Amino acid sequence: MPAGSLPADHPIHRLGDSLYLRAARCQPTGRVPVWFQRQAGRSLPEYRALRGDGSILDAIADPATAAEITMQPVRRYGVDAAVLFSDIVVPAAAVDFGIDVVPGVGPVAAEPLRSRADLDRLPMLDADAHTPYVLETVRLLAAELDVPLIGFAGAPFTVASYLVEGRPARQHQITKALMHTDPALWHDLMERLAAIAVASMRSQVLAGASAVQLFDSWAGTLSPADYAAYVAPHSKRVFDELADLGVPRAHFGVGTGELLDQMAQVGADVVGVDWRIPLSAARRRVGPGVALQGNLDPVLCLAGWPAVRAAADRILAEGTRQPGYIFNLGHGVLPETDPSVLERLTDHVHEYQPANASQHE
Ligand code: CP3
Repeated sequence: MPAGSLPADHPIHRLGDSLYLRAARCQPTGRVPVWFQRQAGRSLPEYRALRGDGSILDAIADPATAAEITMQPVRRYGVDAAVLFSDIVVPAAAVDFGIDVVPGVGPVAAEPLRSRADLDRLPMLDADAHTPYVLETVRLLAAELDVPLIGFAGAPFTVASYLVEGRPARQHQITKALMHTDPALWHDLMERLAAIAVASMRSQVLAGASAVQLFDSWAGTLSPADYAAYVAPHSKRVFDELADLGVPRAHFGVGTGELLDQMAQVGADVVGVDWRIPLSAARRRVGPGVALQGNLDPVLCLAGWPAVRAAADRILAEGTRQPGYIFNLGHGVLPETDPSVLERLTDHVHEYQPANASQHE
């Protein structure tokens, strides 16, 4: 995977041998790389102090603040990757669809997307014009970080679920009804969201991100047949249209044990795994040449260090059977998490000696 199309001063050229990038390419590493989804956020006192009470979208729109929030967990934990401080609804908010992130609730759209006329309220994203602040944040980080920056976008299905439901929903009933009753509108919506995800992630990579992750957090609510018919072709397009950049492309969802084969087949280099399926089973499902990321239950981080350590050791033993493993949680850090647990966990992962010598350089 040559990072050929990226400029000579892109950070990927100096970070090519970093633990995260080597593992994402299934190359052997001397230590296991670790980062945490939602490592920046309410679990950190320094985050709460900086964020205040305003909308998260305002914090994201201020590059100095967003860059500092991105750096906080990197400094505190010494993790092997930074994840851009932004949100999956930023592009939809930036093109003025009318969506906000309500504290304690999540994304809320005043007028949800229910008809073809509503699709006109979701124009194509011009990343330079609509989200210049995101790109400025990435540039600030690219100059400062000595670990790879992971850029990201929400996957077409998960973003569609917020736009269609209008608020976080457990069953995704309105989304699934639209998918099945008006497939033409559904596919047009997914095409638009795929194009937006591509534009957003391409712009982040060109500005200095060294990897991307597509968050399809709620794909696990779908049957494998519905995922294949209504989602996979659009997620595949996203991965295909990023391939020429030569950066690792990760694909993540929750409760996706029965979808892992498809989530790899659409073109992911790294597949995120949640705690409901052992890594060894996940490995069989994604097939060779695809790295795994995961899969500690984030709730265990509230159960004290002995529980975390025992689960982490089991996961590390399974994950390191082959090259291509990145330690992470199976979903995001919970706000109640004591940061000292993640400090110990990061050190513990770094000290871990894989039984299998193939993990060593
Ligand atoms: O550290 C990181 O992981 C990077 C930053 C990041 C955020 N959101 C910041 C954020 C990332 C990668 C996301 C992605 C995101 N946003 C997803 C996919 C990942 C996942 O968790 O499944 C989803 C589904 C969203 C939508 C969203 N945004 C929700 C459900 C919430 C929580 C609402 C709440 O208050 O409980 C948000 C808000 C949000 N985005 C927070 C953070 C740190 C917390 C709220 C805040 O600080 O205001």
